[in-house]
Amino acid sequence: MKKLLHVDSSVLGPHSVSRQLSAAVVERLRQATPNVEVTYRDLSATPLPHLSGAHLAVAQGASNADPSLQQEIATSQAVLAEFLAADTIVLGAPMYNFTIPSQLKAWIDRVVVAGKTFKYDAQGVQGLAGDKRAIVVVSRGGFYGAGTPMAALEHLETYLRSVFGFIGVTQLEFISADGIQLGPEHREKAITHALQAVTALRAA
Ligand SMILES: Cc1cc2nc3c(=O)[nH]c(=O)nc-3n(C[C@H](O)[C@H](O)[C@H](O)COP(=O)(O)O)c2cc1C
Repeated sequence: MKKLLHVDSSVLGPHSVSRQLSAAVVERLRQATPNVEVTYRDLSATPLPHLSGAHLAVAQGASNADPSLQQEIATSQAVLAEFLAADTIVLGAPMYNFTIPSQLKAWIDRVVVAGKTFKYDAQGVQGLAGDKRAIVVVSRGGFYGAGTPMAALEHLETYLRSVFGFIGVTQLEFISADGIQLGPEHREKAITHALQAVTALRAA
């Protein structure tokens, strides 16, 4: 059975474009793939805390009796296990202040872990999560394409491409909805265009 991990990070609930589109991606993959098992993580409804020094120390073997920290470490381990178990990751990633939401950064801090998803060796860095496919849905208020005035401020897609590449995920697909804040017409056009791309996705 194929395992699919669906992650949302928008704080805009039912008004969110990336949530609408990530749900459409999951629906498309469900229809195209017999026996797919979906795990859902909502990083806005159930946020992960920022990493702390105490957390890192305990994760690296220091003893700690603080029950809240033990709970936090258990959650981090569950997040990493979920990611490692998934064949396909569907990620909703809105642009907030030119990059990912901080809720999503906290998730990435649990997933990019030395010895689990990457390692350093004599050749340099080696990604260890190369057996996965990631489909990232990005939604942006403006336009950041090559040659546009805002292109240099694009740190959402470029960052996610770097992070997934770093841990070895090369089966990386992006679906974008851009110009969401430029008015209802732009918004509708962007969503329609993105939904067309969703229908063309291959099975999980
Ligand atoms: C807090 C916040 C910050 C934003 N920052 C940017 C930005 O830097 N650049 C941009 O193009 N749009 C920005 N936007 C607009 C969003 O990218 C756009 O509304 C997008 O649809 C958000 O995805 P969502 O609807 O899934 O939350 C911002 C929106 C919010 C709520």
